[in-house]
Amino acid sequence: MSGTSSSYDPVQVTPLGEEQVFAMRDAAVAAIAAAADLDQLKQVRSEHAGDRSPLALANREIGALPPQARKDAGMRVGQARAAVNEALAARTEVLEAEAEDRMLVEETVDVTLPWDRQPRGARHPITMMSDLVSDVFVAMGWEVAEGPLVEAEWLNFDALNLGPDHPARTMQDTFWTEPADNHVVLRTHTSPVQARTMLTREPPIYVVCPGRVFRTDEYDATHSPMFHQVEGLVVDEGITMAHLKGTLDHFAQAVFGEGITTRFRPSYFPFTEPSAEVDLVCFVCRGSGTLDGSTCRTCRGEGWIEWGGCGVVNPRVLVACGVDPERYTGFAFGMGIDRTLMFRHGVEDLRSFFEGDVRFSRAFGTEI
Ligand code: PHE
Repeated sequence: MSGTSSSYDPVQVTPLGEEQVFAMRDAAVAAIAAAADLDQLKQVRSEHAGDRSPLALANREIGALPPQARKDAGMRVGQARAAVNEALAARTEVLEAEAEDRMLVEETVDVTLPWDRQPRGARHPITMMSDLVSDVFVAMGWEVAEGPLVEAEWLNFDALNLGPDHPARTMQDTFWTEPADNHVVLRTHTSPVQARTMLTREPPIYVVCPGRVFRTDEYDATHSPMFHQVEGLVVDEGITMAHLKGTLDHFAQAVFGEGITTRFRPSYFPFTEPSAEVDLVCFVCRGSGTLDGSTCRTCRGEGWIEWGGCGVVNPRVLVACGVDPERYTGFAFGMGIDRTLMFRHGVEDLRSFFEGDVRFSRAFGTEI
């Protein structure tokens, strides 16, 4: 029959032969076995079992075959497709189980781990000392004043009776900023805050100013190009050196304990007249210089510890800062905060404050 024979196309039948169909099935089963996860399996499913997969295309061709060939091919392709679907189902189950196991492992929470490992922060010892000093003065009714770290040369020096040719300018090794004719420095002490305060406010003035200062010092166990000072300034009617002494004795006792007073040694600062170095009774040996029969290590047997500088505000400074020296007098003092901490806590190396080792800071605890 010409109709049937003309539709018989051996070229089309060839792909449905046993060998071809088994090859398609085996390729599909191998790809399924090789899929490493569910995403890969999805891809394999569409390639080997989807509408455009070789077996689906083969299935479509079955209808074109003569009846006997159609039956054989139909069975072969049907069995092959069933085998592929079975392999897919089995692999899906395995990969889903694997994915679940992996998730359980990845999301495991070990409830026995310590939960409070986050270390609690504490303030830096320098901050603690600055706050302690501020508190001592605020308790006496003083105010805390602040000034910029980058300061006008005039306020850092000239206003404080340190004119351009004053020999004492070289006492403080200064960081100058560029360009030099801007006359801006990194403040070498907290004393410019005295000038700033007097220029902006009327007496009575009672201020304390803790802050950072800078000098071109080498960085070693006792020097740092950046360190901390605390400045005090009083300007009022009838202020004398006796008020200064009483204030510093109170300050010393508040920081070092009862009975720890101060003594003055004559000294020179351009901004104070008269000027003095302040020493503190050694708070360890309490002035005796010895401890349990041997030399006190804190004061090296002196009985006294050098603490800072002070004096009666030089009238030239009052005039430069717009304060009437006929009506007002004042006193000022300046101490190193880092230095105070060093001898108060027996810190041997100044650099410990700046190197950020928490074991060092932690030893100070938090003092509130
Ligand atoms: N500013 C001085 C210094 O840094 C300290 C000081 C302050 C002395 C106030 C007297 C009065 O050396």
